[in-house]
Amino acid sequence: MEIRKVGVLGCGLMGSGIAQTCATAGMDVVVREVTSELCEKGFAGIEKSLRKFAEKGTIKPEQEAEIRGRMTGTTELKDLADCDLIVEAIIENLDLKRETYRQLDELCKPETIFASNTSSLSITEMMTSTRPERQQRFIGLHFFNPVPLMKLVEVVRTILTDEAVYDSAVEFGRQLGKTPVRADDRSGFIVNRLLVPYLLDSIRALEEGVGSIVDIDNGMKLGCGHPMGPLTLLDFVGLDTTYYIAEIMFNEFRERRFAPPPLLKRMVLAGLYGRKSGRGFYDYTADARNPTPMKLV
Ligand SMILES: NC(=O)c1ccc[n+]([C@@H]2O[C@H](COP(=O)([O-])OP(=O)(O)OC[C@H]3O[C@@H](n4cnc5c(N)ncnc54)[C@H](O)[C@@H]3O)[C@@H](O)[C@H]2O)c1
Repeated sequence: MEIRKVGVLGCGLMGSGIAQTCATAGMDVVVREVTSELCEKGFAGIEKSLRKFAEKGTIKPEQEAEIRGRMTGTTELKDLADCDLIVEAIIENLDLKRETYRQLDELCKPETIFASNTSSLSITEMMTSTRPERQQRFIGLHFFNPVPLMKLVEVVRTILTDEAVYDSAVEFGRQLGKTPVRADDRSGFIVNRLLVPYLLDSIRALEEGVGSIVDIDNGMKLGCGHPMGPLTLLDFVGLDTTYYIAEIMFNEFRERRFAPPPLLKRMVLAGLYGRKSGRGFYDYTADARNPTPMKLV
């Protein structure tokens, strides 16, 4: 099935990147936000990103307006009715996602494929909010931040996903210039299943006094060639987001390696979310480019 028109739900960090990437690949895109202000804010971010790509020569100057012209914003779900594929990138809240899918199921054409960009929720649990015919056309498309730059997309199938729909989704990932990997619907898919226990273990190492914040980060950076250490990466991802994902994964697998360590919970309670709140494992308030390690243990 050819995908020409894409609907995107949410124009936040991920939704705006997904919309931009689809439009850059030549697809028409309709983006739905809850208010027109949020829509405008999301599109302002997209325009800024396209300008940077044009300045760097990644896209030709004339492409900037062309790509922007393929995207429209709306606050109405019904404007997504004739899309071939809908990628949902709204906040990580199961009830809200289920209710949105239920409404969309009634509005969209029978062929529309539904996809979720969730990081940790079960695709199957979202799928069951739609009618049986749609359930075969329900998949996960897990992109990575920043979407226009990151090359990976995890394409996730449930036990009911139609094989042809799954293949179309993999092909869609390729059309976007990404490398698609196939994964089954288990919390965390491939990347977070491996990454989250590693990040949580770095917090445990700090709690247990194995090393300081800077030494743990340098250990993995210089010893393993990682572009950044795990505690710096946690500050980028957001400690609140990581805590939330870890809770979901722990509930799914009931294994200690997914359990959020007490220090992570305390930091989230205290509002130390990482870069976005100014402080996490490092303090970014004085100089965001040269953050200083926090005194936490
Ligand atoms: N941030 C990441 O690094 C990352 C990476 C991969 C996947 N994800 C997943 O992507 C999804 C979105 O994350 P984000 O970081 O972009 O969040 P975000 O908070 O930046 O954006 C979410 C947007 O969804 C909008 N929204 C809420 N309800 C809506 C609705 N019913 N219809 C349309 N829009 C609605 C909000 O107004 C908000 O602008 C989550 O499921 C998250 O788990 C995030």
